[in-house]
Amino acid sequence: MKEIRSQEDFDGRIKRILITKEEIAAAIEKAGKEIDKLYDGRPILLVSILKGAFVFMADLCRAVSVPCEIGFMCAKSYYEGTVSSGVVKITMDLDRDISGYHVVIVEDIIDTGRTLSDIARLLKARDPLSFHVVTLLDKPSRRLVEFEADIALFTIPDHFVIGYGLDCGEYFRNLPYIAEYNEKEGN
Ligand code: IMP
Ligand code: MG
Repeated sequence: MKEIRSQEDFDGRIKRILITKEEIAAAIEKAGKEIDKLYDGRPILLVSILKGAFVFMADLCRAVSVPCEIGFMCAKSYYEGTVSSGVVKITMDLDRDISGYHVVIVEDIIDTGRTLSDIARLLKARDPLSFHVVTLLDKPSRRLVEFEADIALFTIPDHFVIGYGLDCGEYFRNLPYIAEYNEKEGN
């Protein structure tokens, strides 16, 4: 990826907006209600996978009404440009024993499925009361490892996307919408 040195470099990377901030807000409202219905008053532990899911977590936790705690884990899938290398590393683990919790994973995007299948295996082995996965985005056409979220807010085609927590080279996480990344200028 060409280094971003100016506002012009930055702006040129946004090809088009795929999902507006209003569409995201409406989908999160709906997902919050689904979670409330699923747990029916039982307390939950929302676990956000950093860094990509931090924005989604902030909005989703305010859309649920069941008692909820929050936790964070950091998983890094190594990318060369916009292509996953297939190596997933847990760089920060949860700060508590999850055996007494209804765990809800909050993820930004499921792409190859490697990150979440690794995390699911790891966390299920710790004996939570229940385990569900909510993802903002799903790119099913890219799956290399079988994995399905319980709730997926948007299914998108095979485009590399940025914004609302998702990055390219650590930039663009702060965009309030989801956009298609412009790969034309030397990646
Ligand atoms: P997976 O392990 O291939 O399913 O990928 C999961 C992680 O890769 C996500 O949590 C993202 O951090 C990253 N990722 C996958 N696709 C995209 C994309 O289109 N834009 C930005 N990050 C992505
Ligand atoms: Mg991520």
